[in-house]
This record gives sequence, structure tokens and C-alpha cells, in this order.
Amino acid sequence: MKERFYVTTPIYYVNDEPHIGHAYTTLLADVLAGFQRIFGRDVYFLTGTDEHGQKLQDAAGRNNRPPLEYCDEMVVRFKNVWKKLGIKNDDFIRTTETRHKTVVAQILRKIYDDGEIYSDNYEGWYCIHDERFWTEKDLLNGNCPDCNRPVSKITEKNYFFKMSKYQDWLIDYIDKNPEFIQPDFRRNEVLGFLRQPLGDLCISRPKSRLSWGIELPFDKDYVCYVWFDALINYISAIGYLSDDVSFNRWWPALHLIGKDILTTHAVYWPCMLKAMGLEQPRTIFAHGWWLSGETKMSKSLGNVIKPLELADKYGVDALRYFLIREMTLGQDSTYSEESFISRYNSDLANDLGNLLSRVMKMVSSYTEGRVPAPAGDKTDSDRELEQRGSDLLDSVRNKIESFKLNQAAEDILELVRGTNRYVEMNRPWDLAKNNDMDRLSTVLYNAAESLRIVSGLLSPVMPEKCAAIRHQLGLPSDDHSLKITGWGELKPGTAVKPGDGLFPRIQKPKTETVAEAKESITELQEGLIGFEEFGKIKLRTAKVISAEKVEKADKLLKLRIDLGSEQRQIVAGVAQYYTPEQMIGKTLIVVTNLKPAKIRGIESNGMLLAAKSGKELVLVTTEGEITPGADIG
Ligand code: ME8
Ligand code: MG
Repeated sequence: MKERFYVTTPIYYVNDEPHIGHAYTTLLADVLAGFQRIFGRDVYFLTGTDEHGQKLQDAAGRNNRPPLEYCDEMVVRFKNVWKKLGIKNDDFIRTTETRHKTVVAQILRKIYDDGEIYSDNYEGWYCIHDERFWTEKDLLNGNCPDCNRPVSKITEKNYFFKMSKYQDWLIDYIDKNPEFIQPDFRRNEVLGFLRQPLGDLCISRPKSRLSWGIELPFDKDYVCYVWFDALINYISAIGYLSDDVSFNRWWPALHLIGKDILTTHAVYWPCMLKAMGLEQPRTIFAHGWWLSGETKMSKSLGNVIKPLELADKYGVDALRYFLIREMTLGQDSTYSEESFISRYNSDLANDLGNLLSRVMKMVSSYTEGRVPAPAGDKTDSDRELEQRGSDLLDSVRNKIESFKLNQAAEDILELVRGTNRYVEMNRPWDLAKNNDMDRLSTVLYNAAESLRIVSGLLSPVMPEKCAAIRHQLGLPSDDHSLKITGWGELKPGTAVKPGDGLFPRIQKPKTETVAEAKESITELQEGLIGFEEFGKIKLRTAKVISAEKVEKADKLLKLRIDLGSEQRQIVAGVAQYYTPEQMIGKTLIVVTNLKPAKIRGIESNGMLLAAKSGKELVLVTTEGEITPGADIG
């Protein structure tokens, strides 16, 4: 019997715009699922959308739409992005589907009858954004400790799940099952949280306040709390209470989540499962953030990176490779276009792309377009390459099982680099010149065989590009060919089908954003530079015509500046030092040849200079009056 592998992503709030963070968790699940299929497991991969609750009701209201109609429209965006990114999920669950709602209602009924739920009057501080109650002492400066938004005091009758009684059991379970919550430091975080007394969980919302949810089967004036509803997707989708065979086949799951939703998954959910008498998830793995610059990406900050724009610009597989290669699972990672391009050029254009094109060229010109049969005695370099190739599957499997995806990708790339070195060392072009056909055949065979293994093992990360490599190698494209059964599978005599280069080099844009421009200016200051380099930075004087605050960004001012020949808009981080009124009429020194950047969604065409020391900041200006637009140098 095949071993089973059931993997889930969070179900995303359907009103969000899918960004690179959502794409990452979904891609991670897709890549793990792909590897498990190669390792011979039976795989089920679930994703979906979270469609109930206050946030949704409010968003639908703002758009003047009935909630379900609004969800129907929004869910398409997620589905489209996943399709575009080549995500091969087996199922997509929406919490508004009947198959889900009936299971939630049945579970509520059952645990209510079992005495796991009671009603009580509740007084607390409620955060609409996070949809949760806080006690007085939880609040930070009177605001929600999670999102810092204002909270409102609410007293009402509600229903509670007796979560507190599972506290000791849960601590014990976590202690005894080191694989349960990963990485380790997240497990410790949860254990730390559980050192405080665990309260019961309010699982209802009165319909008078929130009607968009699943009705409680024992009180029609209430709907179910959105998190209690949402977590159940992981079992309703695979047939809990409706299809025992399927449910028993797939449960328990590996839950992939971001670190933001650790408590709901590692505390609420295990207690809920315990109350239902179900087995615990195999593993809850919380990964870190993709940051944009220094900060977390979010819609309200306006620094969201949209996966489709990147995929359109550089290709889906390049994006997939970058995200998997660049994030150490568990840690935060910073996204920048520059690191994307560097990674692409070094790993894909130089190493992998180069290996493919040289193998294709050599097989075409030296062995009549057919994979040659190795001949003669093996040299040390042959044996070494063969060993590396044969060992790769095991090392990749170990890395994948321990969630070190970036290292798995690196191991595969190491074989690529090793093969390039092997080719350079054995110099097939000289072998051809000297007519040493035995050696030439062996070297070309080994290089091609290595590429076959690479294309198989990288295919979960870059499915399309790897299929293209396999096509060029003359391999069948059906999934069975993905089995990597050790060195020597490639059949001599196979006709190769050379095609276009798969990873054309990307030219690096000179300066991408204001932040990076600042960085490179700082870099320049650290060493001595030539006049020519200095001359690249165009500095001019500019007069401020108008200035206003940027909404929800207390550091930023939006300025209109006069450069003599033209007017421009720039966004500057000076709001904590200058009021808009103080800025108007000032003469600034501005870097004028920066590429336009978007800061909080507002276009900025240049950067002003300011002197900073500790907490002080003053603008750099001219000693006397001068016409706007004067050159500085
Ligand atoms: O929390 N970096 O949904 P959500 C990495 N509906 N991952 C990120 C990210 C970032 N900057 N931003 C978001 C919810 N994510 C609930 C879940 S599950 C039963 C209910 C990813 O739309 C990450 O996986 O806010 C995070 O946990 C998830 O999106 C939150 O998605
Ligand atoms: Mg969220």
C-alpha cells in the first residue's frame, strides 16, 4: 500500500487580493505535494477560501453586494492565480459550500450534546478586524494588541467551547510529539502561550451583530464564530461525516500556515479535534513572512507584491524557483527584484540553462543528435559524477522531509554545477577534434544523464521548464518518466530535440526603488569613487510648490516640486520633522535621475537630500537664492 500524504494551506480570506504571501504558502504545498508524488506517495492537496464572518460581511456591504454574490465573484481571483502559477491542488473548498456547512453544523450539534459547549454572559473588548474578544489586560494602550486598532466594549450572551479543560492534555501532547508543531521555536512559542491559563473559546456571534455565518444548530439567533467554522474545512473537504473511506484515507494532515495563525491552528484546532475524538494533525508547520523591504506586506501599507505581475514579467517557473530557493522555511525573507534577478541569472541562466544548451549543442554536432552509449573504462571524474547523481534523490528526500526546501534546491543545483565542471574538465570539444569517440560518448552520455536526473528532481519546483528540458532530452513527457530510478536510465540512441534556450539572461535595471538608490549611494560613500561615477548622479535644485500628508503614513509627505523646466511629484520621509506648510517655498536638493518608484502606491520621481543625526533631520538646501533646476556638481 502506498503511503499517504495529505497537505493543506490556510483557506484565505476571499476578500483579500492574492499576493506573494498567499502564493507562497500555496506554492509550498504544491511543491511538497510534487516531491511526495515523485517519492511514490499517494497525495491529496487541499486549498480554498474562508468566506464567512464580519470582515466578509463588511466588505460585501461596502461593495453593495449580497455576501454570497460577492464571494462568488472574489473567489475567481484566487482560482485564477493558482491556475496561472501552475498549482495542482486536488480540491478547492469554500466555506460557503453545503458540503462544508452541514459538517460544521453536525459537529456543533454533536459536541453540544456531549456537553462541550455552554452559554454564558460575556463582557469583553471586541476587535472587529481580528474578530476576537480581548480582556482588559490584553489591550495595548486601549487598542487591540494584535492590530492596534480601536476595540469596542460588548456585553452579550454567547456560547463557549470548553477549551480550558484540554490545556494539560495539549501541553503533554506537544511535549510528547516533537513533529507536531514545527519549526522548534514555534513549538516553544505555543508552549509559552500555554503557560498562561487557557480560557474557553467563544464560538458564537449573535445574528443581530453578524448574520453572515453558519447558524448554530441549537440556537437560531446565533451564527458560528468564523475561526471555528474555518478550521473545520480541513476535515469537511475530505469527507468527515460524509465519506468515511475518504476521510480515513487522508486524515491526518500536514497543515502549512504562516506564523500569523499559529495559535488558532496549534491551540484551538487540536482542542476541537480532541473534543470530536479525532486524531491530531500530523504536523502544523508555520513559515515566516515575505517582507517587502523591511516591512510585512499588506494591503493597507500599499507594498503588496503581486505574483501575477512577476510571473508575467519573468515567467511562472522562475518565480516558483526563486520563492522556494530563497526562503529558509520558518524564517522571514525579503523580496526584492534585484535579488530575484541575481538568483535567476546565476542559477537558471548561467548554471542550468548553460548545461542544457551545451549538452544539446554537443550531442547535435558530435553524435548526430542521438544520446551516445558510454564506452571504455570509467575515469575518476566519471565515477564521481555518477555517484553524485545517484546520491541526489536520497539527499533531496531527506531535505524535503525535514522542510529544508531551499537546501534541496541547492543540492540539485550543485549537481548542475558539478556537471558543468565535469564537462569543462573533460573537454568534449578536444575529444571530438582528436576523434576519441569512446571518451566523447561517455562524457556526453554522463552530462545528459545528469541533466535527466536534475530535470526530474526539479520538476516539482519548475514543472514547465523541466518538462521542456525532458522534451529536449527526448524523454517521454508523461508522469511515469519522472521516476528517478538511479543512474543510467537514459537510453543511448534517444534522439534529442534541441530547442530555444530556456532561461535567457535578465538585464539588471540600474536602480529600482528609492530605497535601493539610497542604499547604493551609501555604498558609494563607503569607498572612494571616480568622478565618472559621481557624475552619474544628477542633482538639481527644486522649489517646493505644494505639500500634503500621505494618508495612513505618518512619515511621508507628498510634494510637488518645480525644477525650472518641469514639475514633479516626489514622496519624502520627512513628515515627522516638517509640516506641509513648512515645506512650501523651500529650496531642496533633489536626485533627479532615479527611476520612478511607488511609495505606498504613490509615484515618486526623485529623492530629496537631508542630513540626519540621531533623531534630528534637516533638509539640505542652498546657501542663497537660485533659480529652480540649477545643476549641482
Ligand atoms: O488568516 N508572507 O487568511 P489570510 C508569507 N482565513 N505568507 C503570507 C504573508 C506574507 N507576507 N501574508 C499572508 C486567514 N501569508 C484565515 C485562515 S485557515 C483555517 C483560516 C499567508 O487570507 C500565510 O499562509 O489572512 C498566512 O498564514 C495566510 O496567508 C493568511 O491568509
Ligand atoms: Mg490575515
